[in-house]
Amino acid sequence: MLTVALPKGRIAEETLEIFEKIFEKPFIFDDRKLILEVDEFRFLLVRNQDVPAYVLHQAADIGVVGLDVLEEKNEDLVRLLDLGIGKCKVCIGMKEEDELDYSSPEITIATKMTNITQKYFAKKAMAVEVIKLYGSIELAPLVGLADAVVDIVETGTTMKQNGLKIVETIMESSAYLIANKNSFIEKKKEIITLYRKIQKQI
Ligand code: PRP
Repeated sequence: MLTVALPKGRIAEETLEIFEKIFEKPFIFDDRKLILEVDEFRFLLVRNQDVPAYVLHQAADIGVVGLDVLEEKNEDLVRLLDLGIGKCKVCIGMKEEDELDYSSPEITIATKMTNITQKYFAKKAMAVEVIKLYGSIELAPLVGLADAVVDIVETGTTMKQNGLKIVETIMESSAYLIANKNSFIEKKKEIITLYRKIQKQI
């Protein structure tokens, strides 16, 4: 039995579609259920940012999660394969009329991704104050909570509709298949077999 942690939403749907193609049968969660068992697989539906925790503590053997989340959490996990789904970018956004001033003594950044943000600006030797938010990040510069945001851009619609522009791209992201280190040893054969099937399918 392999337990697979999936992030709720489109990435879970697209991952289950890959499984449907490989095994030629439906992989569908019932209405509000969070566990799905099909043959030798058990799928867990969790929040995006929680996937690394499930896999790290071996509540799941493997998981699917965005590279952005992996970089932010920086846990000791095995990165197996880029699935090429859930593509997005982590960007710095500012109001249309503003510019990123590298000589400014301190700027304030609102973000969900505090570690990625700290690391990026530390590399540029730029002092930043980071304000951790949990959603609706694009609001922060509009009401003076922050000078800029670091946030996920997928279509760019949220930034555009809120009068923000991308000033820099920090990283490109897509969903990765990851594994727990012990599971990767204990269930190597199962994981590698699945890995090969997925690789062929994508
Ligand atoms: C993410 C992100 C942006 C938006 C970007 O938010 O934080 O707000 O999607 O997508 P777009 O470029 O296609 O407009 P999410 O929907 O995860 O909601 P949240 O802000 O509550 O986390």
